[in-house]
Amino acid sequence: MAPKGKVISCRAAVAYGPGQPLVVEQVQVDPPQKMEVRIKILFTSICHTDLSAWKGESEAQRAYPRILGHEASGVVESVGEGVIDMKEGDQVVAIFNGECGECIYCKSSKKTNLCGKFRVNPFKSVMESDGKCRFRNKDGIPIYHFLSTSTFTEYTVVDSACLVKIDPHASLDKMTLLSCGVSTGLGAAWNTADVQTGETVAVFGLGAVGLAVVEGARTRGASKIIGVDINPEKRIKGEAIGITDFINPKEIDVPVHEKIREMSEGGVDYSFECAGNMQVLREAFLSTHDGWGMAIVLGIHPTPKLLSLHPMELFDGRRIVASVFGDFKGKSQLPFLAEQCMAGVVKLDEFITHRLPFEKINEAFQLLLDGKSLRCLLHLS
Ligand code: APR
Ligand code: ZN
Ligand code: ZN
Repeated sequence: MAPKGKVISCRAAVAYGPGQPLVVEQVQVDPPQKMEVRIKILFTSICHTDLSAWKGESEAQRAYPRILGHEASGVVESVGEGVIDMKEGDQVVAIFNGECGECIYCKSSKKTNLCGKFRVNPFKSVMESDGKCRFRNKDGIPIYHFLSTSTFTEYTVVDSACLVKIDPHASLDKMTLLSCGVSTGLGAAWNTADVQTGETVAVFGLGAVGLAVVEGARTRGASKIIGVDINPEKRIKGEAIGITDFINPKEIDVPVHEKIREMSEGGVDYSFECAGNMQVLREAFLSTHDGWGMAIVLGIHPTPKLLSLHPMELFDGRRIVASVFGDFKGKSQLPFLAEQCMAGVVKLDEFITHRLPFEKINEAFQLLLDGKSLRCLLHLS
């Protein structure tokens, strides 16, 4: 049993510099302060955003030493003053896009899932309440936080706004995927686009995010789901999850949007950009049907390039919007998504391609870097 209210010593994978292998070492984790929760992490996984931050190429603040990671599930070890919605032993999932429930953003019923205080923030590296770190290494040096969660550790401290209580009967390993990638893609189809039975969809980039969009569109009964990827191997996984057609842009001699318009009677109802590429985003936009088509941006575009889009093009009735965390209000809406997964409506198994013990985290990074894994689950305990 961990000592409540006291500092915990445990293993964590610490990033000491961009691109340097993570160092698995003992760290000290402080008790949770007001409105914070300390959790024992049982499973964590690596997302593309961790990779970009680790390489130092994303917009995330370059703060070292740092504990990266933002996809995790575990159990509550102890709660700080004022936390009333969770208690020791509860099963929880971490979310990087928090929900305080009290600000004007959180109180807007459907307008936004961005919280005034705890919305996704790559520049934040300390706790909200006092601007300090809850981790220290063996030399007593503070270790910075990442995306309000920092999950590559046996214990972490997060604001209660960034934790979701999950059904105690849910399989926690699978629930880890709801922390980011799967919720982001699935929610983009369910909430942002609100795909209806019989509608048509094109998904650009069949990584975990794009495939989760495919899963979302399939569960909604989309009649055509066109997967687009420059990697021909993505067709197999795409078909296993639900694409009805596949386009490899390198294998056709017309622009992708022309091909898609031809395949879908003038354009798809919704297109999703999940590759993080500006040119792909323009193709996605032009692939939608004029009059009502909607292009949804999910990819992260770190370079300061602007989208090449003439304002007059919007007069054709195509819309372009972005989707953060699948437009889910995490704390209040993720339990429903968890139920859908438990009921088998949403299938998570296809997304877990590898499992490794936590200490092999650098191997798991390599798998994602090499495009070999969708999600590698790291087991702690
Ligand atoms: N056209 C089509 N597909 C492309 C292109 C392109 N020009 N360039 C890359 N892709 C494909 C890749 O082959 C890969 O299958 O896009 C897919 C991206 O998948 P991942 O790299 O696994 O990324 P994922 O984790 O799904 O995230 C997608 O969201 O979180 C952000 O930074 C992340 O921008 C990325 C996006
Ligand atoms: Zn809020
Ligand atoms: Zn992520």
